[in-house]
Amino acid sequence: MQIEENKSLKTYNTFGIDCHARYFVSIETIDELKKVLSEKPSAALFILGGGSNMLLTKDLNAFVLHINLKGIEILKETDTEVLVKAMAGENWHEFVQYCIEKDFGGLENLSLIPGNVGTAPIQNIGAYGVELRDTFESCSVLEIETLKETVFTKEECSFGYRNSIFKNEAKGKFIITSVIFRLTKGNHKTSVSYGDIQKNLTDRNINKPTIKAISEAVIAIRQSKLPDPKVLGNSGSFFKNPIVTSEIFKEFKQKFPEAPFYEVSPTEFKIPAGWLIENAGFKGKRFGDAGVHKNQALVLVNYANATGKEIWQLAMDIQKKVKQTTGIFIEPEVNIF
Ligand code: EPU
Repeated sequence: MQIEENKSLKTYNTFGIDCHARYFVSIETIDELKKVLSEKPSAALFILGGGSNMLLTKDLNAFVLHINLKGIEILKETDTEVLVKAMAGENWHEFVQYCIEKDFGGLENLSLIPGNVGTAPIQNIGAYGVELRDTFESCSVLEIETLKETVFTKEECSFGYRNSIFKNEAKGKFIITSVIFRLTKGNHKTSVSYGDIQKNLTDRNINKPTIKAISEAVIAIRQSKLPDPKVLGNSGSFFKNPIVTSEIFKEFKQKFPEAPFYEVSPTEFKIPAGWLIENAGFKGKRFGDAGVHKNQALVLVNYANATGKEIWQLAMDIQKKVKQTTGIFIEPEVNIF
């Protein structure tokens, strides 16, 4: 375990922003994690996972712990179900691929989401009609203050749309060290109704899709719409899809009858932020090295050397214009530092 000083984080955040960490250490075992925490570093702690859901707008005057705990383990298996534990530092997509190869079902719609297993519960990652909470069993955490290892069950995590207890009451108090998933064997409950999945399967003449076929469909759709962070820096959806009351929605729909929407409940409606941003005229626009992706307006991109401040400025301009044109406030999904 080596503590580095003034370390560039350019390759540790998918936006590719060149900010520096005052101190940086890569953590490979839980004992290392306990050792570092017990020494109570003088600088503030910053827990870094896959760096796929954050925008760095300045150097971090902090002690950065890069959680690099690895390992996948099958805990329990019956004819129909399996409990699989993955350590927090496992790459999310590689873990999903591992499950698909073993024919463990439930995560296929979440293929190709950037980031690591340990940070996935924090924002309850979701795509194509499925969320992490659908297969989440529990996660192990280390309490930063006491170094106590405990478990959070699904109920205790209070999952919501891109939300969990780790963004609220538990924020900054725990480090997730591993996650357990309850997956299906054989009797997969597949979900293909969202967006273009069914179309992709039909185009390939697949009428009884395996979880592998669904994963391939999701990968193809994501690759056609979302930029690969290795090629073009980005953090996936920059904003959350706003959820508005029926009164606000009624007014909005009168003004924009063509806008897509989803009914969340009889009194709540979700409006795609991507549509709002496109409607505000930002899709495909570039300002210096900061821009809005040409195929998905919800994704802000770093063409090469944009600073975090430039991307943040663009995000605020978008937020303002969307509010002016539609009256709707869109809020960032990524964490801003
Ligand atoms: N739309 C536009 N213009 C755009 C983008 C989207 O009009 O530039 C419209 C589409 O036509 C569609 C609607 O908005 O009618 C929804 O678009 P899409 O299905 O692409 O999904 P999204 O709501 O934009 C969400 C997630 C994505 C996830 C997809 C698929 C959020 C904030 N984003 O995007 O998650 O992959 O659904 O399930 O909920 C991420 O979190 O990083 C992410 C990529």
